Amino acid sequence: MQRLSSKDVLRADQFGVNEIDRILEAARRYEAALDVGEVLDELRGKILATLFFEPSTRTRLSFEAAMLRLGGRVISVAEAKSSSAAKGESLHDTIKTVEGYADVIVLRHPRIGAAAEAARATDVPVLNAGDGAGQHPTQSLLDLYTIVKEQGKVDGLTIALAGDLKNGRTVHSLADLLANYDVEFVFAAPDALRMPNEIVGRLRASGISIRETESLIDAIQACDVLYMTRIQRERFDDPSEYERLKDAYVLSRDMPSAPRESITIMHPLPRVNEIATDVDDHSGAAYFRQAANGVPIRMALLALVTR
Ligand code: NCD
Repeated sequence: MQRLSSKDVLRADQFGVNEIDRILEAARRYEAALDVGEVLDELRGKILATLFFEPSTRTRLSFEAAMLRLGGRVISVAEAKSSSAAKGESLHDTIKTVEGYADVIVLRHPRIGAAAEAARATDVPVLNAGDGAGQHPTQSLLDLYTIVKEQGKVDGLTIALAGDLKNGRTVHSLADLLANYDVEFVFAAPDALRMPNEIVGRLRASGISIRETESLIDAIQACDVLYMTRIQRERFDDPSEYERLKDAYVLSRDMPSAPRESITIMHPLPRVNEIATDVDDHSGAAYFRQAANGVPIRMALLALVTR
């Protein structure tokens, strides 16, 4: 398979439509192969290292499952904070060490820009699995894949991003990725958690229509896809501010304007309180299907970057 234009996957805005199409197409092929129980070995002999300096369930496990599904192997530091970093090792030195052990590296780190820093330190491909409140590009690709599967298209849709738009890396990346398409955005957030001006400005400059609101109901009524997010507790300096905002938006079946059946409801997970469990049997509640889509998308990415 022809490689991606960049050695690494660091930000969603590194991708244009052609490359996105290639990734989604590869993911569709892998998903079809998995569905019929085909055993693949494209990455036999290759080793993936997953280095997670922040908690994760879905991202780490789906990357590891993806590597194993491609016949590769995995070495992993799930709690990298308690590894050598705890002894004061720099990220640079950790990456220079791991490049001696692996053919591809997946990194999650609390610092914005950490993945780019890691990528500069090594010739081994680095995939950003979340850099603080920065970006989470592989999540955005699986989000886009989910939108296309659930709605049959992306062009022409109104997409609402709701919750902690200030600190949520998934929504930062997703907004950038969807900017490649003919979409309209509704950004729903409490005033203190609005989408950063820099991102809103950049999207508007590229001709995208954005409406900002503080009302979740307003967003639900306007959109085809509702992307809920968790209030990012770990990014708050002031615990009382988190307490004030944590239940700002709770989607439930018995709210004044319940979600229509045709709407697709997404969430990168984990959820805390923002989607009541009574929404889970809504036909458009796609969040667990979305999580499962992480495997074929990450198979595609690993196959396209691993040397
Ligand atoms: C997200 C993350 O880590 O940014 N989780 C994920 O990767 N699926 C969302 C979150 O933690 O709120």
